[in-house]
Amino acid sequence: MLKIRVINGPNLNMLGVREPEIYGKQTLNDIEDLLRIEAQALDIQLDFFQSNHEGEIIDSIHGAYMENFDGLIINPGAYTHYSYAIRDAVSSVKIPCIEVHLSNIYVRDEFRKNSVVAPVCTGQISGFGSDSYIAALYVLYRRLNKKS
Ligand code: DQA
Repeated sequence: MLKIRVINGPNLNMLGVREPEIYGKQTLNDIEDLLRIEAQALDIQLDFFQSNHEGEIIDSIHGAYMENFDGLIINPGAYTHYSYAIRDAVSSVKIPCIEVHLSNIYVRDEFRKNSVVAPVCTGQISGFGSDSYIAALYVLYRRLNKKS
C-alpha cells in the first residue's frame, strides 16, 4: 500500500475563515476528508500534518523519509516564496513531492509568482482549490505505480 503524507503550512489551519473569496469556504478538515475518500478508492494510506512553524514542517518532511513514505503533497503557504530551508528538506529526502496551491499564485501579488520549493518538487499544481490536492494525489498514484 502506498503511503503519502500531506503537509500544510502556515495559516492553512484557518481555511474557511481566511479570505474565502481567494481560498474558498472549505476548511482544512473538509479538504482532508475529500482526500481520504479518494485515497480509499486508490488504496493509499494518507497521513496529514499542518503547522505554522517552519522547523516543524521540516521535521515532518524528514519524518516522511524515516517512516518510509512513498510520496509527499505539500502546500507550504507563504513559505513557498522564501523558505530555502523547506526547499532543502524536500531535496534532502528525495521522496517524490508535488507542491500544491489552492489559489493560482501566478495571477496574484508579484511576490507569490516565485516558488523556491517547486524546483525541487516533481511538479506544482496551482489554482484549483481543493482539486489541486486531489489532482496531486492522482499524479503521485500514477507515477508511483508506474515505477513499481
Ligand atoms: C497558498 C498561496 C500562498 O501564496 C499563500 O501564502 C498561502 C496559500 C495557496 O494555497 O494558494 O498561504 O499556498
